[in-house]
Amino acid sequence: PSFGSQLKDGLSKLGLPEEVLGFVFNFSGGPNNLKIPEARGSISAITNEPFFIPLYELFLTYGGIFRLTFGPKSFLIVSDPSIAKHILKDNPKSYSKGILAEILDFVMGKGLIPADGEIWRVRRRAIVPALHQKFVAAMFGLFGEATDRLCKKLDAAAADGEDVEMESLFSRLTLDIIGKAVFNYDFDSLSVDTGIVEAVYTVLREAEDRSVAPIPFWEIPIWKDISPKLKKVNTALKLINDTLDDLIAICKKIVDDEELQFHEEYMNEQDPSILHFLLASGDDVSSKQLRDDLMTLLIAGHETSAALLTWTFYLLSQDPSVMAKLQNEVDLVLGDRIPTVEDMKKLKYTTRVINESLRLYPQPPVLIRRSLEEDVLGKYPIKRGEDIFISVWNLHRSPNHWEDADKFNPERWPLDGPNPNETNQNFSYLPFGGGPRKCIGDMFASFENIVAVTMLVRRFDFQLALGAPPVSILFIFFVSMCEKFTSKLATK
Ligand code: HEM
Repeated sequence: PSFGSQLKDGLSKLGLPEEVLGFVFNFSGGPNNLKIPEARGSISAITNEPFFIPLYELFLTYGGIFRLTFGPKSFLIVSDPSIAKHILKDNPKSYSKGILAEILDFVMGKGLIPADGEIWRVRRRAIVPALHQKFVAAMFGLFGEATDRLCKKLDAAAADGEDVEMESLFSRLTLDIIGKAVFNYDFDSLSVDTGIVEAVYTVLREAEDRSVAPIPFWEIPIWKDISPKLKKVNTALKLINDTLDDLIAICKKIVDDEELQFHEEYMNEQDPSILHFLLASGDDVSSKQLRDDLMTLLIAGHETSAALLTWTFYLLSQDPSVMAKLQNEVDLVLGDRIPTVEDMKKLKYTTRVINESLRLYPQPPVLIRRSLEEDVLGKYPIKRGEDIFISVWNLHRSPNHWEDADKFNPERWPLDGPNPNETNQNFSYLPFGGGPRKCIGDMFASFENIVAVTMLVRRFDFQLALGAPPVSILFIFFVSMCEKFTSKLATK
């Protein structure tokens, strides 16, 4: 905090009323006088691209924090690493999830991503231990089997010379993995289209629509009862909830009958899922809360990894020299084996490729917060109730921090250097967030993606399909999808 704000705090603690302080500090040119730069011009002028892309130009013009107003709504856009660190790590208690929690309420309720305050604290403490080392190591079999199923599907396409749209396949791969990992359910979406898979996608697409809707159409009284689309969403939600209730009931029964003693690294070999761990731990939780948490984990772990994989293969298809280097490492380290946890340390270049893909296409590209009390961001005082977007996209492409920021260059991270993260990059790079609300699935996701990338590149070459539509970027609240990446495959 600046000297002015410290002085103001000190005087306030001595009992001087807020109005008097406000007056004095306004008058004396204290912190209240500093005004956050306001971005002029309208963002709505740019229609066909996700809103976080024009925010980059505004960042170059207005700097690391500015205000963007549309109609009655106003947002603070943060692209400065030290302000991001302040909000996420140094003073996280003063911020909530704000709009994110409001929009996702229909699907995640009070699950770990939207939850705040005491509920968040209690649930985080219950869930984090479930992702212990032994659990993550046990997931390698699952990552390998699911990717192998995808390879078989791609074999057929490569043999027929058929172009494939990769995003939907990656989305299915990661859905199959996360369903097994979280509640031991086999969606098998790579092979079949069941009602439940369709229901999951209906709900996800609804979250996407709501995140970009100019008005909350789902709250309009009569509309919400007669809209066929909302009816479909509610039916899908009911199917998912019923399925989750069934899975919880089945798992409860197994836990009741099992002899295993619960301990820190507890894991049931037949069912290592997070749900099994939570029930065995005696986690005292309402069935609605448990469902919210499972649903949150399903969504958090699904679209993020799917987007990461699609962007990674898109980037690789654009850069044959990186692809060749990657394939070389994979052949040397793995040969034909299914990767294991021990291989992870050796796959250094593969890790750098993923680091770099997450830099250029962070998931989510913006982190959303709302101030719960007054605070000072950089040199600017802010009020309670400000909606804030921390633009990870801007941080990751800032010319102040990165050389050739837009270039896909895994070599920017030395192979013998540390694995880049928010701490060693001082919040200029935060692929998994930072502070107490950092991603709980970072290890899981990194390994899942390394396994998938290695198994695919050792088998196939990927090239942008001739005559395919250009890829486009689609923002769906917490991920930016690489749409329409159609690849031509050749078996290596
Ligand atoms: C939170 C990224 C995979 C579960 C986050 C956050 C980021 C992130 C940036 C912070 C959000 C914020 O501060 O507002 C990613 C990426 C992934 C990934 C890039 C994959 C490539 C996963 C997986 C799981 C998961 C596989 C579950 C197994 C969560 C949860 C939170 C979270 C529960 C909320 C934590 C809290 O608020 O306490 N993730 N994630 N994520 N992630 Fe991930």
